[in-house]
Amino acid sequence: MEISTESLAFSRRARLLAESATMRVSRRAGELKAAGRDIIDLSAGQPDFPSPSVAVEAAREALAAGFTRYTAAAGLPDLRRALADRYAEGFGAPWETDNVIVTVGAKAALFELIQALVDDGDEVVIPSPCWVSFEEQVRFAGGNPITVPMSAADGFTIHAEPLIGAFSDRTRLVLVNSPCNPTGGVIGAADLRRLAEACAERGAILLCDETYERFVYDGVEHAGAAALARDFPVSVVVVGSFSKTYSMTGWRLGWAAGDRRIIRKVLEIQSHATSNPTSFAMVGALAALRQGEPDVQAMLAAFAERRRAVVDALKAIPGVDCRPPAGAFYAFPRVSSYLEDPGEGRGGGSLELAEYLLEEAGVAVVPGVAFGADPHLRLAFACSVEDLETGIQRIGEALGRYGRSR
Ligand SMILES: Cc1ncc(COP(=O)(O)O)c(C=O)c1O
Repeated sequence: MEISTESLAFSRRARLLAESATMRVSRRAGELKAAGRDIIDLSAGQPDFPSPSVAVEAAREALAAGFTRYTAAAGLPDLRRALADRYAEGFGAPWETDNVIVTVGAKAALFELIQALVDDGDEVVIPSPCWVSFEEQVRFAGGNPITVPMSAADGFTIHAEPLIGAFSDRTRLVLVNSPCNPTGGVIGAADLRRLAEACAERGAILLCDETYERFVYDGVEHAGAAALARDFPVSVVVVGSFSKTYSMTGWRLGWAAGDRRIIRKVLEIQSHATSNPTSFAMVGALAALRQGEPDVQAMLAAFAERRRAVVDALKAIPGVDCRPPAGAFYAFPRVSSYLEDPGEGRGGGSLELAEYLLEEAGVAVVPGVAFGADPHLRLAFACSVEDLETGIQRIGEALGRYGRSR
């Protein structure tokens, strides 16, 4: 007899997880597109550029040459070495090959690190709004995410003091994503050092997700946590990704760098979870790291132009408040005036507004509630300036009709 739907039981851990709202909006946008609707997708958190041709060529050659077997579970030694060198040269980090592991995206690096470090009941302090997977990954490990709100008034700049104020005896990790998805907010070098000091004093780990490290604007400097690795060799751990920097999202490659005992533990987990990331993809990533800088610069220039266009267009919509993000490639406008009492029986949350904009305006955006910030929407600038302007114009028109009875 087959298990009935009612008695199919999932684990306690799995029951804690819900599908991410970002995925849900993307899926609905995909369905509407497949049905022939003209949809402008501003929901996807991925650059719309091709991967660097040097990476594509190198991976193609590796594949053709039969580089298709398992590699060491920690990834290609040459790639680990190249990443360690980059941190040593760029930030003075005393890191070598053993201080770096290549992972199946930054997502797997974060997952494995959190599994390695967080026990049942441990607390993980996270500036909020934050990326959708942080809290879920912490819960999956049995930990408690402690989100600490940053302020929209200064562009969601990440400050150390409120985070330190949330420390308790159970604090095990502080998880900082700078530049931040969804807000674009960054942490400054002084705050980062202050946080590292506070973590070290407490025996906590400062885990820095630097997935968007190369995308900062208007002279903002990315404060790389690797610069603290000499002073805090155990307590500072960095996660990075090829996904956004090199527009290689589908290649699924990221890394973690830090104390070699921590990296070793992550490797033990990885050896039972994914084993090595894809062999020939890592060959491509190495080429991107060595020769992909012109591609990064071209993307950065395009994002800077789009950022201006998006912010200007959003600011022109009555009741929408949008500051230029310091980094990443998302605008995070506040739309609360459309959420308070929208009338017509509407629930009034950002999820409902995002669904309305998708159905009515044919524009996919992510509701702020997905990131713990209901008064906001997230718009990725991962399409042409023309599409962005058309999309935002349509949003403006649809917002004008939203809850007419207000
Ligand atoms: C803040 C943040 N960290 C990590 C990731 C995951 O990146 P990857 O594709 O390397 O797994 C994302 C992807 O959206 C992200 O926004």
